[in-house]
Amino acid sequence: MCGVIGYTGKQPAADVLLDGLTRLEYRGYDSAGVATVFNGDLHLKKGVGKLEEVERDCCISRLPGTTGIGHVRWATHGGVTVTNAHPHLDCLKFIAIAHNGIIYNYQQLRRKLSAKHEMVSETDTEVVAHLIEEYMLPGVPLEQAVARAVKEIQGTYALVVASTVEPQTIVATRKGSPLVVGIGKGENFVSSDFQAFLPHTRKVLFLDDEEMAVITPGKVNIHSAYGKKVFRGSVTLDIELAVREKNGFDFFMLKEIFDQPQAIISATKQEKEALQKAANLVNSSRSVVFTACGSSRYASLIGRYMFSKIAHRFSDVIISSEFGYFGDAVDEQTLVIALSQSGETADVIQGIKEAQSRGAKVLSIVNTIGSTLARMSDCTLYLNCGAEFAVAATKSFLSELVVLYLLSFSVAGRLEEAETELVKISALLDENLRLNNDAVPKAANMLSKYDKFYYIARGINFAVAGEASLKLKEVAYVHSEGMSAGELKHGTLALVENGTPVIAIAPCDGTRDDILSNVSEVKARGAYIIGVSDKPDKLFDMYIEIPRVNEYFYPLVSIVPLQLFAFHSAIARSLDPDRPRNLAKSVTVT
Ligand code: AGP
Repeated sequence: MCGVIGYTGKQPAADVLLDGLTRLEYRGYDSAGVATVFNGDLHLKKGVGKLEEVERDCCISRLPGTTGIGHVRWATHGGVTVTNAHPHLDCLKFIAIAHNGIIYNYQQLRRKLSAKHEMVSETDTEVVAHLIEEYMLPGVPLEQAVARAVKEIQGTYALVVASTVEPQTIVATRKGSPLVVGIGKGENFVSSDFQAFLPHTRKVLFLDDEEMAVITPGKVNIHSAYGKKVFRGSVTLDIELAVREKNGFDFFMLKEIFDQPQAIISATKQEKEALQKAANLVNSSRSVVFTACGSSRYASLIGRYMFSKIAHRFSDVIISSEFGYFGDAVDEQTLVIALSQSGETADVIQGIKEAQSRGAKVLSIVNTIGSTLARMSDCTLYLNCGAEFAVAATKSFLSELVVLYLLSFSVAGRLEEAETELVKISALLDENLRLNNDAVPKAANMLSKYDKFYYIARGINFAVAGEASLKLKEVAYVHSEGMSAGELKHGTLALVENGTPVIAIAPCDGTRDDILSNVSEVKARGAYIIGVSDKPDKLFDMYIEIPRVNEYFYPLVSIVPLQLFAFHSAIARSLDPDRPRNLAKSVTVT
């Protein structure tokens, strides 16, 4: 998982690449680097840490030249070290490459090349630089050497290559990882995400798998895997540059939590035609399967519940990385609903490819316009919540729920009911956020000495317990488990001791009595109970208040104070909730 970028034109390449990398950092932030071509040499600077730290330590911006490539890394093969950071060079230092993906046969290639080539890093990527070097014989164009090299690669890649041999050329090729070319005037770009070059151009060409772009300042040529010229018109994106503004908040995560009342309104404003098309797809399918990862999967679990309750449709949720093992019954009568904030999650895309190969239709619910998933789908509903910068999903999760409510009610022909309720909830949530902005940090501080938490819930709130637990693990590095309260007595209860914090999501819906009875069971074993509810109870040692809403809509209001709780738990432990260790915003490897 990583982000790549290439530029050739008339501007200082280092400035363009560095600026672009700031918008790719969501793909990885453990190390970064840039290589430029100038005066017959490659100039390389790379380092460990977030981009701003690498720039502070290595001064990437001082690299000379108007052609170059850049990279932000999320380590897969080889530790987080300067040597393992990209770009990687060949032995003679005339080829530089940056890579997003995984080369599965790199050990075999390494063995094959090791007699003649000296590998300095532990990465899977470096072999590709040496492989290109092998084919870069006198008179062979760079594109041909790259084409021959990638024929030997097994795995996934978005590769950008620069070389002193063709000082104003970037060669870019992909398989399984996204790449998009940006067409400028006397300058051209390529990147994993068009956001990286959006300040310069909105005219783009999306590359398909196994295509190669040969990019010079004045021209972009695209070839297929077989060397055939591909004629493809560019598209002009009608997309705003994602503005990295914290609006007075210290952290993106907190800002994005507070964006949520507005996010509900924005997500509710769906294009009527698209929503109707989506509802028709559901109605005309024999079976419905949701697929997603992480927070988007928890949203899907709530969608499954709503489909059953409101649309009276049985559906299932398959974790995207399990799709290949589990999707045997998927066929042309199946509708797969894929949820993804980024629209770039490799597991989701792989699952969708598998479903499409079996003839299934795909409805996607995504935030990022123009993302791979959106482009692959038969129909797409957008979250409309704006860019989400914190690694932890907050407003995108809530917006996914809103779209799922709208869809379930649309399938049942009751869309207006959902719209009316959602507008009411937006206002209630706004009020509740202000109330909890005082109470929740105190709770998080008080509980900051504990290193394990249990979240329990039932029915539609069960997935909220999972999502809240994921937030705590992700940003506060605290072990926690979100579970169905009824399952406690089947094993987990053995872990409850005197003082164990148990967060019970116990709104006044059909689950209330049952969940309070489970609360009594854990309390009898000494648990410290944090009740999240619209009604206090004597069983609660601590009470986090949520507003009273229609019984199906409680997930929208109960997750929010628990996001706040995770955020303040991170702050209480002096952690950076925006960029947690070992994670990236968009997981682009399987
Ligand atoms: C959520 O807080 C996580 N960062 C992660 O679980 C995320 O939801 C998951 O990687 C899926 O991402 P997507 O929605 O962009 O596909």
